[in-house]
Amino acid sequence: MSRLGQRPPDWAGQHLLDVTDLSAGAIELILERAEVARERVSTGSLPLDDLRGRRLALLFVEPSTRTRLSFEIAARNLSGDVVHVDVPTSSMVKGESIPDTVRTLHALGVETIVMRHPRSGAPWLAANYFPGHMLNAGDGWHAHPSQALLDLFTLRRAFGEHGLRGRKVAVVGDILHSRVCRSNLWTLTGAGAEVWLCGPRALLQGFEAWAKAMPADRRFNVTDDLDAALRDADAVMALRIQRERMDEALAGSLGEYVSRYRISEERLGLARPAAPVLHPGPVNEGIEVTGELAAGPRSLVLEQVRNGVPVRMAILSLVAGRE
Ligand code: CP
Repeated sequence: MSRLGQRPPDWAGQHLLDVTDLSAGAIELILERAEVARERVSTGSLPLDDLRGRRLALLFVEPSTRTRLSFEIAARNLSGDVVHVDVPTSSMVKGESIPDTVRTLHALGVETIVMRHPRSGAPWLAANYFPGHMLNAGDGWHAHPSQALLDLFTLRRAFGEHGLRGRKVAVVGDILHSRVCRSNLWTLTGAGAEVWLCGPRALLQGFEAWAKAMPADRRFNVTDDLDAALRDADAVMALRIQRERMDEALAGSLGEYVSRYRISEERLGLARPAAPVLHPGPVNEGIEVTGELAAGPRSLVLEQVRNGVPVRMAILSLVAGRE
């Protein structure tokens, strides 16, 4: 039987709800195991047996392409039995509650649930009623732990042995509504990066106060000045403008956003030469970044997507793998 690895005896997590629950050692272990998984994927040495005989449900109450498919591929790479909850044809539309849904899945032999939900906190509620493993695939504005881990993995690979310590990472876009940003803040500052959050004032609300309240070794910078954020940046992460989460007043003028904040080859001239550009996707091309940049040689956007599979294999094997 071939496995990605066993769960170490000191592994604490029954669930993965937020990156803030992970120790530095646990994050390191996930990234190391993701390197092994990446090698297995690239050489086609699959499937592995970490989830053999285990049933996993994908419960996505909000749309997803990257997270849902990469969790599915990751689980199949580990021989998991994957079932989907098709939300529009499920009893959730008849008013079935989250506790009822997850207890029902457990009665059907599901041991692991990967959940995305528009409400912040929904996976925590679900975990209270589910005896198996709950993995948060993005809840409201709050957290997206597997995305932050794959972003960290992608950046570490890009920077090589010197890693992220002392690197300036500019995160630009709709900071306010971004669960990706909140989770990345934790993992990037934990890795020693100097993080700059940048966007229109209305989309930075609350972050200045939060930055001041952080422990000294996790402080970050907040600015509406794109030049200040990009100057000498080692990497730039653009975030999607989430118009579905905004009212008209907040959304403002898209044209004004594009003229002030869209990342272009020219603006990237302020960053360090060859600084990579990331975006968790989906990209509104021409709005957060130019189409040429998103598809160009400095873009790590598809590398992030590719890395989603091995990072999620590592997460699944550690959180939900066989004893
Ligand atoms: N990055 C991300 O969460 O993308 P999806 O919404 O396509 O899963």
